Amino acid sequence: MEDFEAAKNRAAELRQLIEDADVAYYVKDSPTLSDYDYDELVVALKELESSFPELRTPNSPTQKVGGSLSRLFTPVRHVSAMMSLDNVFSFEELDDWFLRVKRGVSQLDSLDQAKLDFVIEPKIDGLAISLVYESGVLVRAATRGDGRTGEDVTANVETISAIPKRLESGVIDLLEVRGEVYMPIAAFKALNEHQQIQGKPVFANPRNSAAGSLRQKDPKVTASRSLSFWSYQLGEVRGGRDFTTHLQTLEYLADLGFPVNPSIVLSASETDIKERINDLNERRHDLDYEIDGAVVKINDLSLRERLGSTSRAPRWAIAYKFPPEEQITLLEDIMVSIGKSGKATPFGILKPVLVGGSTVSLATLHNEDQVILKDVRPLDYVIVRKAGDVIPEIVGPVLARRPTNSQPWTFPKTCPMCGGVLVRRENESDYFCIDYFCSGQIVQRISHFASREAMDIEGLGEQRVSQLVSNRLVTSPSDLYRLQAEDLLRLDKFADISARKLIDAIEGSKSRPLYRVLVGLAIRHVGATAAIKIASKVKSLSELLVVESADLSEIEGLGEIISNSVVKFVRDPITRGIVESLVEVGIGEAGLQEGPGESFDLTLSGLSFVVTGTLSSFTREQAERAITLRGGKVTSAPSTKTNYLVVGENPGASKLTKAERLGVRIIDENEFLETLERGDGDKVG
Ligand code: IVH
Repeated sequence: MEDFEAAKNRAAELRQLIEDADVAYYVKDSPTLSDYDYDELVVALKELESSFPELRTPNSPTQKVGGSLSRLFTPVRHVSAMMSLDNVFSFEELDDWFLRVKRGVSQLDSLDQAKLDFVIEPKIDGLAISLVYESGVLVRAATRGDGRTGEDVTANVETISAIPKRLESGVIDLLEVRGEVYMPIAAFKALNEHQQIQGKPVFANPRNSAAGSLRQKDPKVTASRSLSFWSYQLGEVRGGRDFTTHLQTLEYLADLGFPVNPSIVLSASETDIKERINDLNERRHDLDYEIDGAVVKINDLSLRERLGSTSRAPRWAIAYKFPPEEQITLLEDIMVSIGKSGKATPFGILKPVLVGGSTVSLATLHNEDQVILKDVRPLDYVIVRKAGDVIPEIVGPVLARRPTNSQPWTFPKTCPMCGGVLVRRENESDYFCIDYFCSGQIVQRISHFASREAMDIEGLGEQRVSQLVSNRLVTSPSDLYRLQAEDLLRLDKFADISARKLIDAIEGSKSRPLYRVLVGLAIRHVGATAAIKIASKVKSLSELLVVESADLSEIEGLGEIISNSVVKFVRDPITRGIVESLVEVGIGEAGLQEGPGESFDLTLSGLSFVVTGTLSSFTREQAERAITLRGGKVTSAPSTKTNYLVVGENPGASKLTKAERLGVRIIDENEFLETLERGDGDKVG
């Protein structure tokens, strides 16, 4: 009995949380929970109700279409109820749904059973709309509301150009079309930029901005917001034709001039359906609108009718939700990190959260202006986004959950590493620690020098460097080459073997080619490509000490900004000292060679590559190095500037489709080897 009491209380609590979240999402267009956390509450309530069926009352959120009505709009009763969809989060759960469907259908005769096939559609992340046409004229548009009654948003919907106001072909007494109003990603970005310029709050994501833009009192505001529409369901039709399948209704809608999503496909096999869902998930970032899953629907309309619906969702359709790319989590603190140039970058420490396929616990906040603009404060709940390969981003705070005693965050006045002042110069967005000998900067500079892109000293990561610096064994890269095994043995966590190994690795790096030393010096604007070019002219580090602007300007493709930066670096007494001390210990005399005896022609100069999949004769890194050593450039994703996509085994589907769409030349490993040797095939002939 006590169990039941506890369950009852927990159910009441869950219902309250769900209803509050519904109001924030549907009425205020400003969610307080991520979709993921919301779905978890619903799943928890469902489980509780299935253990204690007495708790499953008709007004439980598990039995209703989620949504509330705002007083801003006139309520309209829907011609027929607008339902929600049940969700699944894994292929196992999808299999259970297939089983339930087949069990339902197995009670029918075999002729009917043969009709079982499915339509797979992207699940558009916008807001559901019902459009009613009388005698071919749009007379009413309504939001889903609570499913029975929606909000009258006709005047606003009339401003959306993708939605027909008058139907050309045939006059039907009554036609109801359902679909999703959404904001294209480009329009969302432009809108947020505009909001920022005007000092107005930005929208968290395209779905909120679509809902916020449509649910406006003044249709002029809606008109300025570039909303669009995908239709996915034919509702009531009176005085029109009959249909037997969902696909026919979609074709009909397309003929009438409604936008129908091009990714919608028909499939009868469960394996194939899963592949299509995976494919949609992989392509989701190539679309110019957001999708949060796939919807699988039975195609045959008579089967749908026989399966029917529960009080909130049809049995003939299911939403497969993709893993979340947006979460809401606690921002525990905001701290500042010091980079190798002294740049002070604020970053958020987050309560770890699974988003975009990985656990995120840190996210950059870029600079002071960004923190102010986003108005994020320590102990706020914040929206965290990580889409695909993109680095995690703190989108903004959930103001409804802000602690009452919250204070805006202010940029620290002093460097957290050395205690020196942090300076923000006029017209710059970053603060800098201006003490070149700040221990934080030293650690970053030396870690960069030892990193894989530069001198590639194995075993010398940031932690080790930090240990060496705090024990005052190194302050400049050249100090590394003076280290003795005995120095290391005096430190924690060093034993004979590890000390010897590190000394050998440092010693081994002495033969690295000049371009790597140049990369390691972290001269402003000098990356691998520029370093390779410079090293082809300036043959050694000692020559670099006497280099003049005029020498550098002779190098093809090396701009003035880079040349000036190099000259400044070797003239500044401090940085010059660093170069001189490296020359003293014999670094950077090896010329443009990767290993002894190997040198490369700049066959790929000016060409840009993307590599995807596994190659048989190179690791990814070797392939990329082979390109940069020959003067080419490597980027992570195809763009209009990409010349070649090199494709190995199991390539990324999104890179392939993007390259195809952009007309990028796609080459296999053999063609890649040829290209390395003789450069751009197109140029050669
Ligand atoms: S069909 C009765 N198809 O998802 C079935 N809904 O979670 C009605 N949605 O309220 C919905 N894309 O706002 C359907 N291709 C699609 C959809 C879709 C997005 C939305 C719609 C619905 C919600 C349910």
